[in-house]
Amino acid sequence: MSDKARLEINGKFYEFPLVKGTENEIGIDIKTLRSATGGVITLDPGYKNTGSCESGITFLDGEKGILRYRGYDIEELADKADFLEVAYLLIFGELPDAETLEKFHSDIKNESLVDEELKKIIDAFPKSAHPMGVLASLTSALTAFNPSSVNVDSEEAMYNAIVRILAKIPVLVAWTMRKRQGLPFVYGDNSLGYVENILKMMFQKPNEEYVQNPIVLDALDKLLILHADHEQNCSTSTVRITGSSHAGLFVSLSAGISALWGPLHGGANQAVIEMLENIKEDDGDTKKYMAKAKDKNDPFRLMGFGHRVYKNFDPRAKIIKKSADEVLADLGVEDPVLEIAKGLEKEALEDPYFVDRKLYPNVDFYSGIIYRALGIPTEMFTVMFSLGRLPGWIAQWREMRLRKEPIGRPRQIYIGKTHRPFIPIEKR
Ligand code: SDX
Repeated sequence: MSDKARLEINGKFYEFPLVKGTENEIGIDIKTLRSATGGVITLDPGYKNTGSCESGITFLDGEKGILRYRGYDIEELADKADFLEVAYLLIFGELPDAETLEKFHSDIKNESLVDEELKKIIDAFPKSAHPMGVLASLTSALTAFNPSSVNVDSEEAMYNAIVRILAKIPVLVAWTMRKRQGLPFVYGDNSLGYVENILKMMFQKPNEEYVQNPIVLDALDKLLILHADHEQNCSTSTVRITGSSHAGLFVSLSAGISALWGPLHGGANQAVIEMLENIKEDDGDTKKYMAKAKDKNDPFRLMGFGHRVYKNFDPRAKIIKKSADEVLADLGVEDPVLEIAKGLEKEALEDPYFVDRKLYPNVDFYSGIIYRALGIPTEMFTVMFSLGRLPGWIAQWREMRLRKEPIGRPRQIYIGKTHRPFIPIEKR
């Protein structure tokens, strides 16, 4: 195989080196394109064909439906690891031994209190505020209470900021949910595991001891693992480009939370349940909604279907679909929308419109059904996605900073007015 790409522009030839990843992906290194050609750039809206970086964190093969974190298959991690272990793996590159994991968790516990003043910010929000907007605001507000975590350049300062945010985001997630429910805020318990502690803060009633349900704990742990990273998706790219200006970790994460909120991205898990509820209210008429999804004049899309990278089953969707059956059965929960979801999936997988466009269920299609069975309100679903994606965002931000990546600043092709003289207002 040649190690160069040749380009011809107006009869002149240019060569650019090819880069090859450890999974044999090939990229054309165009770092010198604009200078070599006197100003020619590439154009790729949505970056469908453009790599923004080299990364060693997560590998996806969209055609084969493969997802690996630091080389480990998602199926193995979901089945054999716990979320804190996977967080450590994503951020630092290796599965921790017991002693390392214990110290990591202990360092997080030492940071698990949130300044009481933050409650005043939460109080200022109306109960109706969408939790994603609240979480993005609170994450950014944390910089005010943790100034030493703003400009982190050394690995030690990064580590301290990382354990701090891993400790405090679960508190903010829990308090955001309880604010909407009109429930008092509950503090964590350092004797509990990381995900056990999240469940306690989210669900403990003020007048009762919280009794952990192993089914709920396992289901949430697995969901958080499945959401933990997904290479250069929209929100992760937002975290990276924000951090590339050397804005701090907390505000870079706040930007990522905002990007994830969109219904085309992480907001889809809430939109899926709302769609399934609408279909249920509409006598379960899935055929009507399939027709709407295929109608180019109808903005309706089959939420939870399709993916920029996966042109095969999203491996996470397969695991979540199986887990949904198990969790609902174990909890004795009957949820009619699960059957509607399965019916929609079956119809779509047999419909040429979806088959031709390689549209399969993605991570968001079934996740909301489990969240709901766990007692998590629909408007909190994307917040739970943020909680899962937190270690991935952190890992990607840390990699970008340690690799000393340049500030992100794409070019453009200008299509506006060419030069014209100013016209005084009386002559307009
Ligand atoms: C996530 O990138 C990641 O990794 C994201 C994520 C992560 O872990 O970070 O995996 C999480 O965001 C999953 C995706 C959640 N979003 C949804 O479920 C919303 C519904 N899906 C779509 O809006 C869409 O599929 C996207 C946004 C996910 C992907 O869009 P693309 O890659 O830009 O594809 P496209 O819009 O160009 O669609 C290609 C064709 C179009 O039809 P044609 O113009 O070729 O005729 O497929 C159609 C689209 O109209 N299409 C759909 C569809 N998704 C694509 N038609 C109906 N329903 C859909 N859901």
